[in-house]
Amino acid sequence: MLPKNLISLLWNFVIFITFFINQSFGSADLIKQDLSLSRSNEPKNILATSIIGGSHLPQMLEILKILKDRGYNITLVAPGNFTARSTNYHSIPQVIFNNEYYDRNSHEFDHAFLDNDFFKIFPVLTNAMIQSYVPFYNIYKQVNDEINADLFFCDILINPACFDLAWKLGKPAVGISSDLSELTSSPYKSNPVFGCHANMENESFYDRFKCAIINPLIKVLVLRGPLKDLNAERASVDIDPHWDFSGRISNRLMLSNNFYGFEIPSSDSPLHQNIGPVIPDNFPDLTPVLDSFLNDHPRTIYFTLGTNAVISPQNVIIILNSFLKLIDQKVIDGVIWSTLRTDTSKSLQLANSNSQIISILNNEYPHIHISKFSPQLAILSHVNTKLFLTHGGTGSCHESMYTATPMLVLPILGDQPRNAELLESAGIALSISKANLQVDDIVLKVKRLLNEESFKKNAERVQFLAKMNSKRKYRAADLIEIVMNTAKCQGVKDENGGFKVDNENLLSDWITPDTRMGFIKGKYLDVYGAAVIIFLVLFGGFTYTLWKIIYFYITFRKENRDSQKSLNLNKKRN
Ligand SMILES: *[C@@H]1O[C@H](CO)[C@@H](O)[C@H](O)[C@H]1NC(C)=O
Ligand SMILES: *[C@@H]1O[C@H](CO)[C@@H](O)[C@H](O)[C@H]1NC(C)=O
Ligand SMILES: *[C@@H]1O[C@H](CO)[C@@H](O)[C@H](O)[C@H]1NC(C)=O
Repeated sequence: MLPKNLISLLWNFVIFITFFINQSFGSADLIKQDLSLSRSNEPKNILATSIIGGSHLPQMLEILKILKDRGYNITLVAPGNFTARSTNYHSIPQVIFNNEYYDRNSHEFDHAFLDNDFFKIFPVLTNAMIQSYVPFYNIYKQVNDEINADLFFCDILINPACFDLAWKLGKPAVGISSDLSELTSSPYKSNPVFGCHANMENESFYDRFKCAIINPLIKVLVLRGPLKDLNAERASVDIDPHWDFSGRISNRLMLSNNFYGFEIPSSDSPLHQNIGPVIPDNFPDLTPVLDSFLNDHPRTIYFTLGTNAVISPQNVIIILNSFLKLIDQKVIDGVIWSTLRTDTSKSLQLANSNSQIISILNNEYPHIHISKFSPQLAILSHVNTKLFLTHGGTGSCHESMYTATPMLVLPILGDQPRNAELLESAGIALSISKANLQVDDIVLKVKRLLNEESFKKNAERVQFLAKMNSKRKYRAADLIEIVMNTAKCQGVKDENGGFKVDNENLLSDWITPDTRMGFIKGKYLDVYGAAVIIFLVLFGGFTYTLWKIIYFYITFRKENRDSQKSLNLNKKRN
């Protein structure tokens, strides 16, 4: 103990002396560090694409706005007249087209989404992806012919055409998604959609085997057909087949609109970077009606299921009855219900003659305010919004955490069941099940969320994380700039004055060597295997020798004794 302390004392002394000498003899004048970067010779054109549009766009647009301020030339290709109509993003030019294969309002989509059955939604999504491949590929190509993109920025969901086109043109592509857990190599991350848990830490061997081995195998089998169809579409626009369903995304930078505190921690490839939560700098303010409602109701629940999720009219009635009970018991005194896609007329038919439910649905009940659309972040930021009843979409989760609002989560589809588990394990939410919705359960959980101190405490802890990490959209813009600069430095000039790159090796600074070493060498299985064999041989040899010695000793003693006995006998006889 003493020598160690002594060494560290001496060491500190040496450091102190060095510091002192530096201070005394070094120059006293400080020069401001030059942090400016010249961007005058950098490639400038960025083509951003999304097949989904809508709620998928803000996370891209916040980053694109930063890049635009830094002098880049941005073009967005996405469905819906999004940027022109938004006050936040109207500076970003958008090429609008509508995707008839991915129409949320179509009967097919409505049906699949209302049933909320993954195995119904999945084929609808893969079909949309396959059918929109060629049209989108051609749109991207046509837009690119005009602007000569130096970099493609692709929303990952069902958007393989973006990565394929970039790959074919030899241009870098960066992906963005709110959830990269499917791409990470951590076997303990899984998905409740497949009957697993988001975090498999405490699960049995059987469940871990099922979720890490069997499910991925089933996925490969199920995806074989769609993948073949996708490759047939690829062939028709002269793109080589690719056998990874996620698309041509390996060795490319993938941004995840997420952060640790919400996402399950893992050691991940430097190519996968958490840059979330992306929160807009400006957001729409409360309308006068909402403002006065919130000021008059100091214990308000905000309820919305986002732009995609739908629940049955029966479930709507159950939720409204829970609100009535909570108001009756004076647990809460107000509800703001943003209906969005929920069709209240169907619930009205079901309400029979329940006068309170009918007056709520007609927006005449004084404690419950219905609005078709609401300024969500402004509502959540209001001090009187005490709880958020949400479907658990990523954007809503982020905003709720950002404003330290505890959540009651009713997950419906996609990444929502996983998000619900993550929020619960962060201690800031409880969840209810769409398959078994009950008034008493909702009432009980709302009471717990409002009364138990831990939820508010954890919400404040996570809020700090969310606020700190919300600056990382600037980091996302930095990373995209780094990729463009790397392309300029490593690429060869093409006929349009841009740079052509080898996408496999472009980001060698971030590609971990194990991906090049193959499965066995990459995971060091050969070395560990040899170590195990050597250990077994040594251990076996040792045990064998020990056994031999003991055996020898025992037989020697026995023989000795026997010969002694026979000697004695002989003596007696004599
Ligand atoms: C930016 O893009 C537009 C087309 O979208 C093009 O007309 C313009 O020349 C580009 N500017 C630069 C600096 O490349
Ligand atoms: C998009 O919206 C803006 C603003 O509302 C409008 O001026 C423009 O005509 C719209 N464009 C299309 C193609 O609908
Ligand atoms: C698993 O169990 C350990 C020990 O009881 C606990 O610390 C950890 O939070 C649990 N993890 C999950 C995901 O429940």
